[in-house]
Amino acid sequence: MHKKERLIEIFDTTLRDGEQTPGIAFTQEQKSAIAKQLDRLGVDIIEAGFPISSTRDKDAVKLICEMGLSSKICGLARLITKDVDACIDCGVDMIHIFAPTSAIQREHTTKMSEEEVKTQTYELAQYVKAEGFLCMFSAMDATRTDVDYLIDLYKTAEEGGADILNVPDTVGVTEPFAMYELVRRIYKEVKAQISVHCHNDFGLAVANSLAAVKAGAEEVQVAVNGLGERAGNADLAEIVMALNSIYGLKTNIKTQLLFETARLIERYSRIQIPITRPIVGENAFAHESGIHAHGVIAKSDTFEPGIMTPEMVGHRRRIMLGTHTGKHSVEKKLSEIGMSCTKEQLDEILERVKELATGGKKVTDDDLFTIAEVVTGEALEQERLVTLKELSVMTGNNLIPTASLKAVVRGKECKSAQMGIGPVDAAIHAIQDIISGEIGGDVKLKEFRIEAITGGSDALAEVIVGVEKGERTVTARGVREDIVMASIEAFINAVNRLI
Ligand code: KIV
Ligand code: ZN
Repeated sequence: MHKKERLIEIFDTTLRDGEQTPGIAFTQEQKSAIAKQLDRLGVDIIEAGFPISSTRDKDAVKLICEMGLSSKICGLARLITKDVDACIDCGVDMIHIFAPTSAIQREHTTKMSEEEVKTQTYELAQYVKAEGFLCMFSAMDATRTDVDYLIDLYKTAEEGGADILNVPDTVGVTEPFAMYELVRRIYKEVKAQISVHCHNDFGLAVANSLAAVKAGAEEVQVAVNGLGERAGNADLAEIVMALNSIYGLKTNIKTQLLFETARLIERYSRIQIPITRPIVGENAFAHESGIHAHGVIAKSDTFEPGIMTPEMVGHRRRIMLGTHTGKHSVEKKLSEIGMSCTKEQLDEILERVKELATGGKKVTDDDLFTIAEVVTGEALEQERLVTLKELSVMTGNNLIPTASLKAVVRGKECKSAQMGIGPVDAAIHAIQDIISGEIGGDVKLKEFRIEAITGGSDALAEVIVGVEKGERTVTARGVREDIVMASIEAFINAVNRLI
């Protein structure tokens, strides 16, 4: 039955369609960690895989089913009994049966007639229900399928017992008005819940999914960071925040976890999130140009949506320094560390910041403070919280990278040895361990980028880090021949400015 109250279900397919992204192959451990994060995030249904496709997929789905998560776990199956049985063996809650329905896909892939698809849809839906599972039916390539046949097929699936009817825009060719009309027609003809699964070939996956929701769909299929076949699926964060902040519709998603979820998938998928990506991109709440930064410093809603804040999605607002920077940004950053300057000095500082940024070089907070010290002739009376004494790292193909670090913190010698994914990670863990013990609280690493490496194996590595404690974030750079040393130098420079 169509629900009266409009709570939109989020069906996440990062582990199924998302994993079909060319080049992605999550390990079993990564799949479990992703499922755990999606569950924490509040995803209603996790499509964990396509069990019949490989033993690797089947094992992963089984493992996820055994995790005791609150999200329902779904497995994908063709209209074939052994596919459904493979899902049942894994212990899923829901089985997602699908078949190509457009003429082009039927003729060139399964070679099934419209009638054959109908018969098997009915039989498989009945089988799934008789075995006691939730059943979702997808008419693959629905947006290129003859509409009368499509509706007839959805009715057949419903008669067979399907609980959810999914409308996939498999090759991403529809547009929001057409999607609205299609889903509206289906909605009027069936009672089962309608789901929508949109691909992003024309960049319209989110818009098309939202149009389907307007027309009555109660579930949206998404993938974190918009992963998926070709140009991907509708992006989870974009769908959830548009539903929440523009459409005023509820979901069960804890939006404050969106940023960290996106970053986890970025790491595991090795597909970098573009800096301009909405909601979770590095620049989603970053401001550089004078007019914008001035406005945001006065009131953030001036140049941000307001109905969506960085806090709502677990991100942060940043005032960046660059060629477009204005006086207000410089004044604000200097005042945060208790520094003031005359109007002439401010002009000079601004000029030097812009000069440094010319050619696209990133200007860190530490760069600004150093420039300000030179221009005003006033070295900041800062206690150097941390001074590095010794650092050694062990790494290799049969070793867990480990770093041993000795540093003087507020005059006291401290040591730590930590492991990490790589030598830089291990060294950062070691310095974080020492600092948090001494200052009572974590200093989080919020940004890490290798800005430049000059040519050759004896090249200079330039690393920029952003560290955060409480509300404050400071960026700084380190430049060395050794990338681990450059990273630690940048981290320590930032911490010394931060505390
Ligand atoms: O894009 C698609 O049609 C699919 C189906 C399996 C739902 O991924
Ligand atoms: Zn798909």
